[in-house]
Amino acid sequence: MNKITVLAGDYIGPEIMDAGLKVLKAATENTDFKYQLAVCPFGGEAIDKCGTPLPQTTIDECTTSDAVLLAAIGGPQWDNEKERPEAGLLKIRQVLNLFANIRPTEITTNMTKYSPLKNATNTDFVIVRELTSGIYFGRPREMTSSYALDTMRYQTQEIERVARVAFKMATNRRKKVTMVDKSNVLATSKLWRKVVTAVAKDYPEVELDFCYVDAMAMKIISQPEQFDVILTENLFGDILSDEAAEITGSLGSIPSMSIGESKLALYEPIHGSAPDIAGKNIANPFSMINSVKMMLINSFQQNEIAAKITQAVDAAIKNNVVTPDLNGKSTTSEVTEFIINEIRK
Ligand code: NAD
Ligand code: IPM
Ligand code: MN
Repeated sequence: MNKITVLAGDYIGPEIMDAGLKVLKAATENTDFKYQLAVCPFGGEAIDKCGTPLPQTTIDECTTSDAVLLAAIGGPQWDNEKERPEAGLLKIRQVLNLFANIRPTEITTNMTKYSPLKNATNTDFVIVRELTSGIYFGRPREMTSSYALDTMRYQTQEIERVARVAFKMATNRRKKVTMVDKSNVLATSKLWRKVVTAVAKDYPEVELDFCYVDAMAMKIISQPEQFDVILTENLFGDILSDEAAEITGSLGSIPSMSIGESKLALYEPIHGSAPDIAGKNIANPFSMINSVKMMLINSFQQNEIAAKITQAVDAAIKNNVVTPDLNGKSTTSEVTEFIINEIRK
């Protein structure tokens, strides 16, 4: 029996997780794929229940799982907590050693109508974001009333292992890696270029080029079709992936997969808990449903089941059964019901 840990989290987290799990159930019924769910507290919800955003019991369930599904965490009422929900998110990535985060941007034919870009066709790239190092984790970190310090630190092996993920991915795609950095200023970026250039020698069939992060922010909009695999460090990847998501029409559509050296992977939307729209039944469930799909393909090799989800989401898009972020009129529940009915057809 496959075990999936479920971390619904805060605000729209439970709303979209509910959609994702309903679609998982519908897509797998009458198939050989069997699973059990372990639902665990995480984020703000866990602070309220257990006094910490990542209880040890939740870690234990994750480490004994085949995959982890996470919706979203965070919210204003925990912003002044000693340990915020976001600290739990960083900790789970670190504890599970999920050092590579894959964030796809694909604008399919039926989706071009949602893109704010005039010429969005042929856009299909993935961002490979380093996830467990850099300025998010660097020490020292200090703050007084007149001074604050963060530390951006990278070690060769941390760069090398995530670079290998990017090159392997490019090998199975259009064979191009674009490394994004700020090597005209930062020492960490200079080390990244050196290490990635060395790793590239092991993948002679993959073309490697480089782009400064400021120029990349522009090129994602002006020529998104140019890119195949974009490799970058933690903070740049965080920022560029929200920007990339928006060219598909909404941040609320994009899933992600976080992987490390073991078989365990974590799947989550790239967006947050969207407190501004929570409780209204209008959150876009595509990000979560697409995360479920990514899990079925990458953790369970269930490509046929995943294809049913792809087809159903595409039908929703084609028929404009979408939430307000995509200029639609449907609720979260209506989009989910439509997708389930398509799957069962
Ligand atoms: P956010 O991603 O939650 O929201 C940004 C904007 O996108 C909002 O206007 C929101 O309504 C919209 N949006 C996001 N997801 C959507 C969806 N599925 N459907 C429709 N619209 C959607 O970012 P924020 O507002 O800056 O942060 C809110 C909280 O989420 C913060 O506490 C932040 O730290 C946290 N956060 C958590 C994660 C995570 O759990 N992985 C990721 C990012 C931010
Ligand atoms: C994300 C989020 C997180 C990050 C925050 C909530 C810590 O923005 O998953 O993209 O910066 O990694
Ligand atoms: Mn982010």
